Amino acid sequence: MDAYTPTPRPCWIAGRPEQGVSALTVRHPFDGSEVATVAVPGPEQIERAVAAAATVAKEFRSTPAHIRAAALDHVWQGLADQAEMIAELITAENGKPLMWAEIEVKRAISTFRFAAEEARRAGGELQRLDTDPASEGRLAMIRRFPRGPVLGIAPFNFPLNLVAHKVAPAIAAGAPIVIKPAPRTPLSALVLGELLAETDLPAGAFSVLPVGNEETAALVRDERLPVVSFTGSGPVGWSLMDAAPRKHFVLELGGNAAAVVCADWTDLDFAAQRIALFGNYQAGQSCIAVQRVLVDRAVAEEFIGKLVDAVRDLRTGDPHDPDVEVGPVVDDAAAERIAEWIAEATSRGAKLLAGGGRDGTNVEPCVVLDAPRDSRIWSEEVFGPVLAVSIADGLDDAFDQVNSSAYGLQAGVFTRDLHTATRAGAELEVGGVIIGDVPSFRADQMPYGGVKGSGFGREGVRSAMRDLTEERITVLTNVSL
Ligand code: SIN
Repeated sequence: MDAYTPTPRPCWIAGRPEQGVSALTVRHPFDGSEVATVAVPGPEQIERAVAAAATVAKEFRSTPAHIRAAALDHVWQGLADQAEMIAELITAENGKPLMWAEIEVKRAISTFRFAAEEARRAGGELQRLDTDPASEGRLAMIRRFPRGPVLGIAPFNFPLNLVAHKVAPAIAAGAPIVIKPAPRTPLSALVLGELLAETDLPAGAFSVLPVGNEETAALVRDERLPVVSFTGSGPVGWSLMDAAPRKHFVLELGGNAAAVVCADWTDLDFAAQRIALFGNYQAGQSCIAVQRVLVDRAVAEEFIGKLVDAVRDLRTGDPHDPDVEVGPVVDDAAAERIAEWIAEATSRGAKLLAGGGRDGTNVEPCVVLDAPRDSRIWSEEVFGPVLAVSIADGLDDAFDQVNSSAYGLQAGVFTRDLHTATRAGAELEVGGVIIGDVPSFRADQMPYGGVKGSGFGREGVRSAMRDLTEERITVLTNVSL
C-alpha cells in the first residue's frame, strides 16, 4: 500500500476488508487537500462486526498466548517495515509535523512490542489461604479473564498510537476489539487493520469501523460490547458513560497540564526550551501538552524572558518540512476557538508576551501572562499552542495552583530537590508527575491516565490489560502446602 490512493480504503469487518455504504473524505489540515477516501460501513456491516466479536469471545479468550503474541509481533514488525510511509500518512491525515509523526510510529511499534511481551508473560497468582484456621489446606489460584469484547474509541491527535493503545492490550489479553477511529483521521487505524488481517487471529477478533457519532452512541449502548475504552474530550466521554452506566469504562479525557519551575532549578534554559517545545508540539494537541506554567517568583523574570525567546524560535510551517516543529491544528473551527479563547483572556487583562496570531489552521505559538483563573485558556483544555504563565510565591502556592483545576492528568516539576519531588508525587492531584521535565513525557509501557475530570482507568499496556480483564479465583481444597 502507499500513502495516497484514489479509491475508498476498505474498513475491516470481523477481520475482512469491505467497501461501505458511503465514503468519507480525509483532508489535509494544512491546506485542505484531499488525502484519501474511506469506506464507511452501514448498519448491517456494523451488526456483523459486533456479532462476530461476541461470538468469538470465548474462543479468543482461550487462544494460546503464543498465537496472540505472534500476531502482535507481526504488527510491530509491519509498522517498522513501513515506518516512513505510515509517518507520512499520519502527517497527511492529522497535520502534525513529520518529526512528531515519525516519533508516533516508533511509539506504536513499542506499544505492540510491549503487548507481545505481556501476552507471553501474563500468568496468575497463587494465594495460600491457610493463614486462617477455617481455610487450612486451601489454595486460591487467581487468574484474570477478559471482561468481554471491547469497544475502543480513539481521538484524532495520535491516530496510530492511541489506536494501538486500545488494540494491542485487548489482543494481548484475548479480548475481541471493535475500534472506532476519529472520523478525521481513520487512515492509520486502517493500516493496523491490514496488518492484523495478515495474522492468525480468529475472525471477529478485530474490526475497524470508521463510523460517525450516531453509530458510536448505538455501539456504546450495545450490551455485546461490555467494555468501552474511550480517549477524547471530557463532555463526550462522560456523556457516553451516562448512556451505559453498567458497562466497564476506561476514560482517558483531557487536561490542562501544568509545569512547575521551582526556585532550586538552575538550568532555566533547559526548562524554557522543554516547556516551549512541549506546549506547542503537535500544535498543543496532546492531552499532556504543557498549558499552564507556574514559575517561582525567585526565577520568574529570567525564566519568562527565556521562555518567550524559546517560543519565538520554534520553527512553524508546512508539516512535511522535516525541520518544522509546529504545524496546523486539526481544522478551522479549532483554530477559531483557540484564537477566541486567547482574546477572551487578553481582553480581561492577561498580557500577550508572544504570538497569538492566526492564519487559517495555523495558530502562532503564544505565551500569555496572568490569565484570569476562570478564563478558558487557564481553566479549560485549550488543545492548542498556548502557554499560560503564572508567577507562584513558593511551593505551596505553586502546588495549590496546579491542584485548583477540574482536571488531573499529568504535571511536570522542575526541581532537583528530593523532598520537593516526593511531595509533588504525593500532593499533586494528577495521574502522573514527571520530575525534572515537562508533563508531556509518556513512555508507552508506564501506567497513564488521569484523576478528577481527566477520567479514570489506566493505559500503558500492562495497566490496560488489567483494566480489560477481571480477577477470578479457583480455590483448591486438600492441598499440601
Ligand atoms: C494523549 O493526548 O492523551 C496522549 C498523549 C501521548 O500519548 O503522548
